[in-house]
Formats: sequence, C-alpha cells, structure tokens
Amino acid sequence: MINDTLILIPINKNDLDYLYSLQCIEGIRKFALDSNTPKYDDHIKWFNDKLKSNTTEIFKIADNNITVGVVRLDLILDSAKSTAEISLTIDPKYAGQGYAKRTINKVIKVTDLDVYHAVIHENNIASQKVFAANNFSYDSMYRPNFNLYIYHEV
Ligand SMILES: CC(C)(COP(=O)(O)OP(=O)(O)OC[C@H]1O[C@@H](n2cnc3c(N)ncnc32)[C@H](O)[C@@H]1OP(=O)(O)O)[C@@H](O)C(=O)NCCC(=O)NCCS
Repeated sequence: MINDTLILIPINKNDLDYLYSLQCIEGIRKFALDSNTPKYDDHIKWFNDKLKSNTTEIFKIADNNITVGVVRLDLILDSAKSTAEISLTIDPKYAGQGYAKRTINKVIKVTDLDVYHAVIHENNIASQKVFAANNFSYDSMYRPNFNLYIYHEV
C-alpha cells in the first residue's frame, strides 16, 4: 500500500455541513463514546473549536475525487512520546471496500508520530478489524465497554 492513491485533505470552514451530514447518518454513532447525534448548534461550536485547535487535525478521505469519509487525529500532550488518538468515519455508502484500513495505513505513513491510539467499542468488530490489520494491539480497558488499542511506530 506504499503508493495508495487515497488522499487526505485537511478540512476547512466549507466542510462544516459535510461533517455534520456524516454525523446524522442513521446508526453511524452507534459505537461512539457519545452515541447521540449532536445538535447543529453544538456541531458548529465543536467544528470551529477544532478548526482553531493546535492539537487536532481532521482530514477528508478522498479516492478519485470522491470523499468517502473523515479521519481525525487528536494529539495527546501529556505523553512523553508524540502520541495521537485516531478516530475515523467512513460513509456507509462506501463501507466494506477497505477504505478504513487504507486510511489508517496512510495516516501512519504521512504523519510523523511515535504512538497512535484508538478507542473502540467492544462490539465494534469492523473497527477492531481495521486497527488490527494496521498492527494495533489491545492495551487496556478505556472505560466500560470501550477498549484502548495502541500502535507504536518502529
Ligand atoms: C468501522 C468503519 C470505520 C469501517 O470502515 P470500512 O471502510 O467499512 O472498513 P474496511 O472495509 O476497511 O474493513 C472493515 C472490516 O470489517 C468488516 N466489517 C464491516 N462491517 C462489519 C460489520 N457490521 N460487522 C462485522 N464486520 C464488519 C469488513 O468485512 C472488513 O473485514 P475483513 O478484515 O475481514 O475484510 C466504518 O464502518 C465506520 O465509519 N463506522 C462508524 C464510525 C466508527 O465506528 N468508527 C470507528 C471508531 S474509531
């Protein structure tokens, strides 16, 4: 996957509604830490905070000019090593085609961090497969029903 054609495009202010539309898809937040769909006003505040943040990067995932989802990196500052938590959402229209696995692979290749975290619901089998395929290993319970998986860059 060295020459993977997926492109990660940093979001800008015009992506407010695209990100919200993903959050509104039925069932998409089933395994999120907060499974409720955010209210639009709350999303606007969240989005503007994230755009300004020095510790968060959000990318649209594009394949041949088609946006298939988004991936977010949140830097974890209290770690001795450079560490980020990865969260991703693939639009169900494009699910099951390997986009999530390819995205995580790409993120690790194009960023320069030591450690990557993923917090995954114990019933989120698809996500567990995605991160296991990218060499993430179970680390610990994060909170009830959610586990922390970690990948150390070698
Ligand atoms: C989880 C998610 C990222 C997977 O994206 P995807 O592009 O469909 O994943 P991939 O095609 O790369 O591969 C997923 C694997 O899970 C399998 N899978 C997909 N949906 C599944 C389901 N409902 N139940 C079990 N396995 C499933 C696929 O067959 C594939 O398995 P394989 O390794 O045996 O081939 C996507 O469904 C999603 O965005 N869900 C909502 C948000 C979320 O849960 N994010 C992850 C938490 S960080």
